[in-house]
Amino acid sequence: MRVLLAGATGAIGVPLVRALTGAGHRVVALVRDPGKHDLVRGLGAEPVTADVMERDALLRAVEGMTADAVLHEATALRGAAPRLKVDDPTNALRHTGTENLLAAARAVGARRLVTQSMILGYGYADHGDRVLTESDAFGLPRRSYADTVVAGCESTEQQAFGAGDVEGVALRYGLFYGPRAFSDMFADLMRKRRPCVPTGGGGTNCWIHVDDAARATVAALERGRPGHAYNIVDGEPVTWREFAAAVAAAHGTPPPRAMPRSLLRLGAPYLACLMADTSMRVSNAKAREELGWQPSYGSLSEGLAAPPPG
Ligand SMILES: NC(=O)c1ccc[n+]([C@@H]2O[C@H](COP(=O)([O-])OP(=O)(O)OC[C@H]3O[C@@H](n4cnc5c(N)ncnc54)[C@H](OP(=O)(O)O)[C@@H]3O)[C@@H](O)[C@H]2O)c1
Repeated sequence: MRVLLAGATGAIGVPLVRALTGAGHRVVALVRDPGKHDLVRGLGAEPVTADVMERDALLRAVEGMTADAVLHEATALRGAAPRLKVDDPTNALRHTGTENLLAAARAVGARRLVTQSMILGYGYADHGDRVLTESDAFGLPRRSYADTVVAGCESTEQQAFGAGDVEGVALRYGLFYGPRAFSDMFADLMRKRRPCVPTGGGGTNCWIHVDDAARATVAALERGRPGHAYNIVDGEPVTWREFAAAVAAAHGTPPPRAMPRSLLRLGAPYLACLMADTSMRVSNAKAREELGWQPSYGSLSEGLAAPPPG
């Protein structure tokens, strides 16, 4: 397939371009900064300069182009502020960015849109020990600090599913670890001896190595059922203390320092909501069965020990 990809330079984007080209797909990468053209060319993609949030310019950039599918992997979590803003850029990419990419999909004649969602769309809450599946309620407000993030996930999914002429598939990724992902950010915090986990260890969450997320995305592009979402997580949920300890061991940093929840809530309310208030276990059975995918790293410790791609 010829695929138009937004987010090709990101933590998931880079391994995704490798996985797509490795599977024989041709990739046109929407890149905001022409300075990154060589990066995506080096990965085997053809760069086109466009900002997903600039609808008219995006449509001009893809004018005359044809593609079979569009992949939406654009987010703005890197360096995110500790407080969510009304105009949070990742939310905007999920609401308006999806709308614009759907317009681009129609302009290039694409039949399929695969969009990035995440398991946190099940709600920033303590879901207990029950394992969540795609049949569980998704995108509902829960009076949590991060309800707007949940609404963003719901928005991108519903736009994709309701597109009519374009088949929509959503990937509910677990938290990303691996090169340039959340684990690297944590390693930096621990190197600086900054407290980074809530006292008591925090809630349980589900993770996925970016290489495994990339392979799942290719499988969803090829085999995902239109109108369906898939949880993309590994098989071993961990607490934040366990996550930080695994990252410290893999990166050779000092051990994680804990921070009282009340202080975390004051200084970084989003992280408090994510790390202290949220606990979930999520099943990947549907992705295994329908996409024929399975994570190559069964656990975080296994994936963190993997050498980076050469
Ligand atoms: N949840 C959190 O609190 C948090 C906080 C920090 C980091 N993290 C972790 O950090 C990692 C990286 O975050 P990320 O995936 O958001 O960032 P990323 O790795 O930088 O990837 C974002 C991608 O989206 C593209 N993009 C962003 N805005 C765009 C636009 N308007 N038009 C076109 N493309 C656009 C970027 O392109 P450009 O090259 O043009 O930028 C980039 O390719 C993730 O693993 C995340 O989990 C999470």
